[in-house]
Amino acid sequence: MKRFKFRANLVSKDWKALCSQRARRLPLRPTCGRYEDIEMATLRQDHITPLPSESFLPKEAYLSREFAKRERKHMWGKVWQIVGREEELSRVGDYLTYNIADESIIVVRSAEDNIKAYYNVCLHRGRRLTNGCGRTKKFFCRYHGWQWNLDGTNDEVVDRADWGTILNDENLRLGEVQIDSWGGWLFINMDPDAKPLLEWLGPLPDVFRKHDLENFRYGWYRTVSLPCNWKVALEAFIEGYHATTTHRQTLNYSGDDRFLCESFGPHSLFRFRSADRLPGHPSPRLKMAAPTDMREALLGNLEQLNVELDALVTKRAVEAARRMKEKLTESATIMEAMVTYIEIHRELAEADGVAWPDLNFDDINMIGAAWHIFPNISLLATHDGLLMYRARPDSDDPDTCVLDIWSIESFAPGKEPKAKQEIYEKWQDGPWPRIYTQDFINLPDVQKGMKSDYFKGGRPNPLAEATLTNFHSHLYDMLKA
Ligand code: FES
Ligand SMILES: [Fe+2]
Repeated sequence: MKRFKFRANLVSKDWKALCSQRARRLPLRPTCGRYEDIEMATLRQDHITPLPSESFLPKEAYLSREFAKRERKHMWGKVWQIVGREEELSRVGDYLTYNIADESIIVVRSAEDNIKAYYNVCLHRGRRLTNGCGRTKKFFCRYHGWQWNLDGTNDEVVDRADWGTILNDENLRLGEVQIDSWGGWLFINMDPDAKPLLEWLGPLPDVFRKHDLENFRYGWYRTVSLPCNWKVALEAFIEGYHATTTHRQTLNYSGDDRFLCESFGPHSLFRFRSADRLPGHPSPRLKMAAPTDMREALLGNLEQLNVELDALVTKRAVEAARRMKEKLTESATIMEAMVTYIEIHRELAEADGVAWPDLNFDDINMIGAAWHIFPNISLLATHDGLLMYRARPDSDDPDTCVLDIWSIESFAPGKEPKAKQEIYEKWQDGPWPRIYTQDFINLPDVQKGMKSDYFKGGRPNPLAEATLTNFHSHLYDMLKA
């Protein structure tokens, strides 16, 4: 596949200056809002008052159609959003559509070295031009037959002479949307004046500089409709506080399962709180004895995540842990087990012909447990596996959303599965391993529960859920614009 050049590549020489994590690291903003600050009367006045220094997530952010409309007007049209990956558009004419609220964008490889994004609307009388994904030579409107070339120029207006001089090449061009890429992901931004993608991403390109992300590929790609607000769905995956209860079984291997958060402008991450956390050990909450065989403990931890996520912890990682167990004796310390496991993991990756990210402690600390990429992405990473969530509104109905979940790995070249998007109207219809099922069960009940008159808003954990506070704080900043 021939690679194409985005504008971001032109500024890549300056990325260190633009994206220095040290320069751009910001303290968490411990503020959000109070219910009375955004009551509906205020919203209708097209104004949201500044938020007080109190961590409180007003329920209207999740339940109000007016709030959803404000997000549509002031946020979705102004932020960089992941629409897919470059390898989905490997040949000229390959296209995908990205729907966000009531907007739809076509993303198409218009030439060997170019990808373009257009508003998915016919300029005659507004029919959507296409749906889903595929390969085409033209975008053809099925209503009256107008059609466009891949470069956005008009190719056909049936009986064009009837318009006299009203129509011209310029006003017949498809509406173009900014597109850029990082790490193999394609991002669009509907704001022509948006800051460059790499600047928007802040420290992320630096944090993941050792991962060969452009050569990672989908292991699977599932899309599910959920009866909850898009933020309810997203927020299940940008904090670890719920794992203690919702994913109780993971405490057998999690070590100290308390979390801290750090923010970088609108983006943030959460990571384990304890620097000397012992993976493979039971959480101190369980008051269980430490394991006697550290090889078993580490292998058990990785096997559990591999089976219960079917993502993030790769088969290669589990194989490395099995070989570590064969290589070491029962008396190995957890550090010996970890070091040997990572060394074997690296050897297996290199034998597969994939680049190995040589991560040091600082790197692992910065990758953390998960990143929230504002507004709607959760990204979890290991050496060779990623688990990502993308939550989207599918209309201005605050009670529904679409959640995409991606398992992405550094497969041996030629061994990538042919992953096709699987779409489920109900999560119960999908082949979800245990951890996703545990999360899905919560989401509709959160949406329903918040409608109680007695509930005014969420109270995020100031340490473990500060990612939510940071998220809402920046969201509110945009909505009050
Ligand atoms: S609406 Fe598309 S050709 Fe008429
Ligand atoms: Fe979860």
